[in-house]
Amino acid sequence: MRTAIVTGAARGIGAAIATRLARDGLRVVVADLSEEAAGATAEALPGEGHIGLSVDVRDETSVDRLFDAAEAAVGPVGVLVCNAGVLLLREGGQRPAIVDTTLDEWEQSHAVNTRGTFLSVRAMLRRRSARPVAEGRIVTLSSVAAQLGGYRSSSAYISSKAAVLGFTKAAAREAAPLGITVNCLAPGLIDAPMLRLSLPADRDAEMSSSIPIGRIGTAEDVAEACSYLVSPAAAYLTGVTIDVNGGYRMQ
Ligand SMILES: NC(=O)c1ccc[n+]([C@@H]2O[C@H](COP(=O)([O-])OP(=O)(O)OC[C@H]3O[C@@H](n4cnc5c(N)ncnc54)[C@H](O)[C@@H]3O)[C@@H](O)[C@H]2O)c1
Repeated sequence: MRTAIVTGAARGIGAAIATRLARDGLRVVVADLSEEAAGATAEALPGEGHIGLSVDVRDETSVDRLFDAAEAAVGPVGVLVCNAGVLLLREGGQRPAIVDTTLDEWEQSHAVNTRGTFLSVRAMLRRRSARPVAEGRIVTLSSVAAQLGGYRSSSAYISSKAAVLGFTKAAAREAAPLGITVNCLAPGLIDAPMLRLSLPADRDAEMSSSIPIGRIGTAEDVAEACSYLVSPAAAYLTGVTIDVNGGYRMQ
């Protein structure tokens, strides 16, 4: 049985990815800041053997402990989805201009979104170098904001998610000899908590008019693309970014 760690999976897109992978027959480790919330999400997944564990992806020791605990409980991790992320906005969902951005906002955004992705990928590659698995997969989460400069998100978020696009390619090169593919998802406007920081649902119709497919995306739309990247069918894709944005912006 293949085993997956999904970070930031207690809710939102991460929870939808965990659900989809569980439905695909994988055993899923739901990892998030709160062990209680992670455990509750794991409990609700279809199938048996899923667990919830706490992690702070900003912290090297915490990430190593997550992998140690996961592997002790469910065996070698063959799939990692780096979904944990933050978007720090001001009161009323306003983004701070660069001139108003504090060093702490900048550092915290990069600590979760960029450092967290690096630490998680590093932990996975170290373990799989020592003990390889078949059909290894890593999926990172960027954003349409990183590709286009963003309309509602902060410069710190855009910068941190742009770093993920480049890091994914670097990781894809290094992971290939281990039989692990590394690909990225770049969601557009997705009905999940992060979007709702700045977009109330009563503006969905207005926003949908600029999306060719004609609607805001769902967390399940992102989970479907993740399911494909994790599947054996995606064996020949690595270093790729899949835009899950309904055609909102075409590259
Ligand atoms: N919602 C969107 O429209 C959208 C668009 C593009 C990209 N994304 C990306 O998709 C991912 C999920 O977004 P979402 O809307 O579901 O957001 P969300 O806020 O619901 O989920 C993020 C999860 O990450 C967890 N998390 C935050 N900091 C953490 C840390 N230090 N360690 C471990 N876990 C941590 C949170 O507890 C939360 O469960 C994020 O990486 C986000 O940047 C979302």
